[in-house]
Formats: sequence, C-alpha cells, structure tokens
Amino acid sequence: MLDYIVQEIERNGFCLIPKLLQTDELKIINAFFEGNKEAFLPAMVGPVNNKQRVESIRGDHTFWVDPSSPPIEFKTAITFLNELKNLLNQKFFFGLKDFECHLASYPAGTFYKKHLDRFESNSSRKISFVFYLNEDWEVGAGGELVLYKKDYEILSEISPLPGSFICFLSEEFPHEVKSATIERRSFTGWMHTKLLY
Ligand code: OGA
Ligand code: MN
Repeated sequence: MLDYIVQEIERNGFCLIPKLLQTDELKIINAFFEGNKEAFLPAMVGPVNNKQRVESIRGDHTFWVDPSSPPIEFKTAITFLNELKNLLNQKFFFGLKDFECHLASYPAGTFYKKHLDRFESNSSRKISFVFYLNEDWEVGAGGELVLYKKDYEILSEISPLPGSFICFLSEEFPHEVKSATIERRSFTGWMHTKLLY
C-alpha cells in the first residue's frame, strides 16, 4: 500500500486510500476524541503573529497531538505516517524531517473555505494528510474535501468515508471542506521539510 501511495503521488500529486483505518481503530481514536472534547480549541486563520478566529473562513475545533510522544490510541496512524514519510524521502528525496497533526471537529454546518496549506512564504509544509474518523457517513451528508487544480478546476471531491486516508502535495492543490449535516471528524496533519521543535 505504501508503494501505491508513492506511485500515486508521483503520477497525480495526491492519493486516496479507502478504509485505511478499520472500525476497531476508529473506535479507539473516537473514544480518545470524546474524552478530550473540552480541550479542543477553535481553529484560527492567519500568520503565526496574527492568528484570528474567522468562522466565515473556517469553523472547526482542533486538538493537537504530539507525534513524537503520541497517546497510545494513535499508534497505528503514527506508525503508518512514519513509514510513509521514510518511503517518500527514499523515493523523492523530499527531505521530510517532521510532522505535526491534530484532531479536527467540524460541527454540523461549519466548513473551511478554499485555501492552500502552504501559504506563508517560509512554510515548510510539503505533504498534507487526513484520516477520516466518522464511523458512519452517508454521502448525502456533505462534508466533502474538494481538491482544485489551479484554483478553479475541480480535480476531485472526496467524501469523508469511515477510515479513509488522503494525502497530497501541500503546495499544489487549493482545497476546501464543505459543510455537513452532522459533525465531521478527522485527524489531519502536515509533513515538513524542517524540524518543528
Ligand atoms: C485543513 C484541511 C481537509 C479535510 O485542515 O487544512 O484542509 O478534509 N482539512 O479535513
Ligand atoms: Mn487544508
């Protein structure tokens, strides 16, 4: 599977894997998610020195997870991410050094408008990744991740189906998160070409 991801990144710049996390793994992460609900903070937008909450841009709440000493609930996901990082470095010489990740909760009706994950000129974000954590999802519920090519042409619309995983080149694809009729949960992050801590 890791080889498939590398091939797809080379060919398309992104890769979707359905059901990467199994139901039992989702349940474990979701128990952690619910146990830490009060510690989630409103996600901000803008540069590091001028962060602001702007719900007309993004309405999610996040809880950061330290990948160098993750809670046990994240073992499968973090092990997978480390293997993927190492293979991407081997194949493409990306020089990925570190990653950062957070749980995200989008309450019903919230969204994240079209953006690029690598907007600041000094950003070292190279690969964006998302695991979708809802244990049930009806396609009619919305919540798609829409990937764009060159800002206007829709490349792909991805429903947040249980346990699926997507990764893409951070500087290549503007994208947005559509609003959903129910809470939308994810575990999202970025692989960096610099050490973060
Ligand atoms: C982000 C983001 C995509 C998703 O957090 O920057 O674009 O599908 N997330 O949750
Ligand atoms: Mn994004």
